[in-house]
Amino acid sequence: MKFNTNFKNIAESYLFSDIAHRVNAYTAAHPDKKVLRLGIGDVTLPLVPSVIEALHGAVDEMAHKETFKGYGPEQGYAFLKDSINGAYARKGVQLESDEIFISDGAKSDLGNILDLFDRDNTVLVPDPVYPVYVDTNTMAGRKIIFMDATAENGFLPMPDYSVDADIIYLCSPNNPTGAAYTKAQLKKWVDYALKKQAVILYDAAYECFVTDDSLARSVYQVEGAKKCAVEFCSFSKTAGFTGTRCGYTVVPKSIEADGLSANKMWLRRQTTKFNGVPYIVQKGAAAVFTEQGEREIKKNIAVYQENARIIAECMDELGIWYTGGKNSPYIWLKCPGGMGSWEFFDYLLDGAQVVGTPGAGFGKNGEGFFRLTAFGSREVTEEAVARIKKLLTE
Ligand code: MLT
Repeated sequence: MKFNTNFKNIAESYLFSDIAHRVNAYTAAHPDKKVLRLGIGDVTLPLVPSVIEALHGAVDEMAHKETFKGYGPEQGYAFLKDSINGAYARKGVQLESDEIFISDGAKSDLGNILDLFDRDNTVLVPDPVYPVYVDTNTMAGRKIIFMDATAENGFLPMPDYSVDADIIYLCSPNNPTGAAYTKAQLKKWVDYALKKQAVILYDAAYECFVTDDSLARSVYQVEGAKKCAVEFCSFSKTAGFTGTRCGYTVVPKSIEADGLSANKMWLRRQTTKFNGVPYIVQKGAAAVFTEQGEREIKKNIAVYQENARIIAECMDELGIWYTGGKNSPYIWLKCPGGMGSWEFFDYLLDGAQVVGTPGAGFGKNGEGFFRLTAFGSREVTEEAVARIKKLLTE
């Protein structure tokens, strides 16, 4: 047996596992201290009533032989794919339902999609970025080129035609920086991908936070994208499914090369390696698209948007430079006093018992930056902000 030695090239533990480990060690050493967690982007509001009702209904269906469900279609039930398709149509995007594949979340599919691509592809990744893109490609031994996302380019790198890439990762609104591409900027990426015969793997997990009309909510709002882009989306941040697990991936039929179709390959891959998301969960997810469900999730999203505003206001008061917070649940700030990312992490944990995510964990350009999430409860966000202000002004 020979191990995949590419694992030697990634950090021993995943960023958020590493943080959880450090926070657990701190709480074990200081059991009397109340730690406030604004680190991992995990939602805190419960599932909305429409979803709960649909979940209960589906559980009851499983209790009767007339309505019981065994294996479902690996690519998802038509009722959910059609609902998602309807939501795309409302964004002005025309898809076919069999271009939509239901999964247990965007993170899994962002890694799994790499089954479609040969090892011999050059990958272009922004730095800083959600660590999954880099780690999964490093595991596969692929060559990765980084493009700098910095304060100078608003953390939104644009294509450089002197760079040849085959697989391009874009995440907008961005995790971790909160920066979001306009449709006009994305068009430049689509043009580049078409010219280079590359594929864009577009992570739209945070699209529900976009409020500004010039910004894209889907890559397919840009002409030409259906020929070169796969889009990943999730119910996690939109509808609180981080623990319930459901997402979807759009693989357009018009992405073809070497006599192969990405859509057919992905169907083949999923039917071979995946048995679908539980019926019960898919019923819950479909409830998100009912009129009532949509109203309810919007109320929850508004709570997180207000948290983002509260954190941003604190940064304004403290004179700390930041991006995000608008069109995004993340606030990406410059560590005060020239501190390094992990130094500020420890300073905040020790001094205020507030947990954030060190920017350096997202790439070298993240050094000296720090991410706070708006997904905490209103109370935790307010208390965290008060503690940060006290710590930094004393
Ligand atoms: C994050 O905090 O970056 C995300 O919650 C991680 C994820 O969605 O997997």
